[in-house]
Amino acid sequence: MASSVVNVPCNVQAIKGLDCQNYFGLKPSRNVKFNCVKTGTTARPPCLFVVRASERHDGLVKKIGLSDAECEAAVVAGNVPEAPPVPPKWAAPAGTPVVPSLPLNRRPRRNRQSPALRAAFQETHLSPANFVYPLFIHEGEEDTPIGAMPGCYRLGWRHGLVEEVGKARDVGVNSVVLFPKVPDALKSSTGDEAYNDNGLVPRAIRLLKDKYPDLVIYTDVALDPYSSDGHDGIVREDGVIMNDETVYQLCKQAVSQARAGADVVSPSDMMDGRVGAIREALDAEGFQHVSIMSYTAKYASSFYGPFREALDSNPRFGDKKTYQMNPANYREALVETHADESEGADILLVKPGLPYLDIIRLLRDNSSLPIAAYQVSGEYSMIKAGGVLKMIDEEKVMMESLMCLRRAGADIILTYFARQAARCLCGEKR
Ligand code: PBG
Repeated sequence: MASSVVNVPCNVQAIKGLDCQNYFGLKPSRNVKFNCVKTGTTARPPCLFVVRASERHDGLVKKIGLSDAECEAAVVAGNVPEAPPVPPKWAAPAGTPVVPSLPLNRRPRRNRQSPALRAAFQETHLSPANFVYPLFIHEGEEDTPIGAMPGCYRLGWRHGLVEEVGKARDVGVNSVVLFPKVPDALKSSTGDEAYNDNGLVPRAIRLLKDKYPDLVIYTDVALDPYSSDGHDGIVREDGVIMNDETVYQLCKQAVSQARAGADVVSPSDMMDGRVGAIREALDAEGFQHVSIMSYTAKYASSFYGPFREALDSNPRFGDKKTYQMNPANYREALVETHADESEGADILLVKPGLPYLDIIRLLRDNSSLPIAAYQVSGEYSMIKAGGVLKMIDEEKVMMESLMCLRRAGADIILTYFARQAARCLCGEKR
């Protein structure tokens, strides 16, 4: 039976945020259950969070002896009942200097002194509903580990993919984005395999939609996995990436993905004018309901290294600097933002994530559209490597980095940690 979402995010983060483990006595196991998804027979009972204001008293006032009036009279008469004394002040270690207190009328630490206060004043929250899970797929039957991305696999589209999506849904991650590893023999200089209705991506979309009709499927729109040159666009003899001709191909690719059932197409190619052209192409084919998540500010970053290994999509020559943005540029992100907004983008994406928090904030403050951040392969691999080498606490750094992306202004985060982080938010161990 197909799994279905029965109860999407109650505010897990209010219970378990960054202070993942010990949260003022609320244990996320019994009555506070973050159970988002039901998969076939492994269904768990739905989320139940019972708060009792007082003990049961069956409408009767419990009699212990005196009436309210008698109690009040006793106090008035000076017979004050006993209560515990004010606890003694804690001792400072011997040798602590005795100093007059600083004359401060602001002591921000007051609001941080207990887990309950910290939880009350937490400004940003993280939930599995914020995650989009990028998945690599291939034609094979087996799942092949990706060397540079520990914990990530090229998933067999027929089995591994379906299983992984099921597991992600079990912890509340119901959005995925697909990246195909295309056989070399199907690559060409014009990337025509990108719009083959029976290609790997459209097939995988159809299978996933059949198993999980309410799954949100994002797709990548770009030619690089299909290009024999490893570039996102068509390469002219002299090495120039041809803009308008590429956009023509991208429109066909987006329509093919929409036809297969994609919910959100995501142009990551950085060609000029592609959002408007794709919008028009989708509408012309009756896909008005399909959204466009535009890679608005995608930088020519070295953090994409592991991803290119995963898909074997390294540019065969040169780099991507004539279409992806210069990491030194800030204002230019606004030029792209205004273009994508006016061309009809539904979501604006910044990529990479953590090194580009200022850009996320820039877009957040300059657009009313939802903002996405892509925590890219290199960011993922660095945290994994640091964890494996015991140089950092992988889980804590993972959760902190995701929280920081949200704090900077991202509504959704594309992250290879999606399932692991969601498990942590649900209180499950790795
Ligand atoms: C290409 C594409 C890339 C990524 C997503 N889409 C790589 C690139 O631009 O070379 C990178 C994602 C990652 O590094 O995790 N269209």
